[in-house]
Amino acid sequence: MKKISVLFVCLGNICRSPAAEAIFISLIEKKGLNDGFIVDSAGTGSWHIGKKADSRMRIAAERRDIEILSRARQITSKDFEEFNYILAMDDSNYRNIQDLKSRTGSTGFASIKKIQDFRSVFNDQEVPDPYFGGDDGFDYVLDILEDSVNGFLESIS
Ligand code: 4NP
Repeated sequence: MKKISVLFVCLGNICRSPAAEAIFISLIEKKGLNDGFIVDSAGTGSWHIGKKADSRMRIAAERRDIEILSRARQITSKDFEEFNYILAMDDSNYRNIQDLKSRTGSTGFASIKKIQDFRSVFNDQEVPDPYFGGDDGFDYVLDILEDSVNGFLESIS
């Protein structure tokens, strides 16, 4: 059976989208669904290409037994062809993804959505950027992503 491919996208690809990717992987592993998916993350920006996720986010995730292994990369127009779902962390990411798609004339069929469209417990319409804030921000991002990433998986199951 064809795998479902999911790309999580934020600005730097070192905080929010690597966390969303790792949460999703942990969820599908727990449910025994990992063979059915290809999961990745990317940033709209290029500053952190090749870097591990921010250590503050990796430590906060480890406390929940979630391991973040990804290295940062930048989204490209090829991703519109290769992924079934592209999930933006905030409105600005969403706009930048749509801009890239129209600028490059991509004819890819990826469904582009905001991850918070799948929230059920938290009211936040965007995943807040924790990069310039305190440690609490990383835990809060994980809290809201556990909710919305779970909602996303339910929506496609
Ligand atoms: P992210 O957070 O988009 O969740 O990875 C950020 C990481 C780095 C920067 C901004 C946001 N930065 O400006 O370098």
